[in-house]
Amino acid sequence: MRTSLRRLATALLVGGLAGGAFAQDVSEETVELFKTTCASCHTIGGGRLAGPDLKGATERQDAKWLAAFIVDPQKAISSGDPYAQQLLKEARGVVMPPVAGMTLARAMKLVELIEVESGKETSRFEGIKISDRPLTEADVDRGRRLFEGRDAFVEGGPACISCHQVEGTWGFGGGRLGPDLTDAFSRLEGRKALAAWLAAPPAATMQPVYKDAALDGDEILALVAYMKSTAEAGRPGPERGPLSFLIAGIAGVVGVLIAFDIIWRRRFRAVRRPLVKGLAR
Ligand code: HEC
Ligand code: HEC
Repeated sequence: MRTSLRRLATALLVGGLAGGAFAQDVSEETVELFKTTCASCHTIGGGRLAGPDLKGATERQDAKWLAAFIVDPQKAISSGDPYAQQLLKEARGVVMPPVAGMTLARAMKLVELIEVESGKETSRFEGIKISDRPLTEADVDRGRRLFEGRDAFVEGGPACISCHQVEGTWGFGGGRLGPDLTDAFSRLEGRKALAAWLAAPPAATMQPVYKDAALDGDEILALVAYMKSTAEAGRPGPERGPLSFLIAGIAGVVGVLIAFDIIWRRRFRAVRRPLVKGLAR
């Protein structure tokens, strides 16, 4: 009863704002906004990513509250509101970042979209289906080839290496525009979250580049496998990497010095002996 009342209230409120009684079609603009700024952390009906699954959010909390939260998450959390505290706890302390340019009107439209999509059997924001199968060496290899641009992406997106490097691509000199991705797998908290991130990269630099050249599910799985392998291999410790280079370098220099010394000593002898002999005469 309470739920249906709340739903009705939401529909009226949202409908009122949208200018119609029960606005069921959400504008493309709102869909696009959700896809580019929210889908990397939220699914609707596809489970939790960094943020909670938003399916049924409007049944858990009223629309106005949610819209205010979307505009300023930190404010809602700092106010001590118990629902916000609960969300924060479930997100293990990760606070939803404020979204640039968010207004209450836009947030209301997003809440409306969440409501409409929640009512569907399968929302278009259920998230990409990434297989749960164990990752293999072949996946890692494919991922590396895609990353380095040795294999092309189906939709023609640019190779990751043009902007990123990971430990091990040093020889190729990866790009510096984006961060080093060696630890991205752990930074973005694993397979599902990284996959969702790659399906709709929220980064300002990557988004326009991959917007019309989305990576497909297999490509994402391969890249995830590759980044998992780089995260697990980690960075070589200082006692291997640079130091052994230094030791090899010093040994090399010493070897060359000894060799020169031997050569020059002979030469000197060869020059000096006749000279000394000549003087002595
Ligand atoms: C970087 C990840 C991230 C992004 C991007 C993000 N959120 Fe969130 N969102 C969270 C987290 C985490 C929470 C849980 C509350 C907290 O800990 O701050 C949350 C909570 C919410 C809630 C409350 C959920 C509930 O169950 O009541 C709504 C609604 C929401 N977000 C909508 C959005 C919308 C709409 C966008 C895009 C404009 C968005 N979020 C973008 C991480 C994110
Ligand atoms: C045009 C340059 C460019 C290309 C191409 C590019 N990226 Fe990025 N990427 C960036 C930038 C810049 C950032 C940092 C953006 C930010 O923090 O807002 C980034 C961030 C990331 C992150 C998040 C890192 C983190 O620790 O938060 C991941 C993961 C990532 N990129 C993966 C990829 C993959 C995989 C590819 C290839 C499919 C790729 N990128 C291609 C520029 C690029």
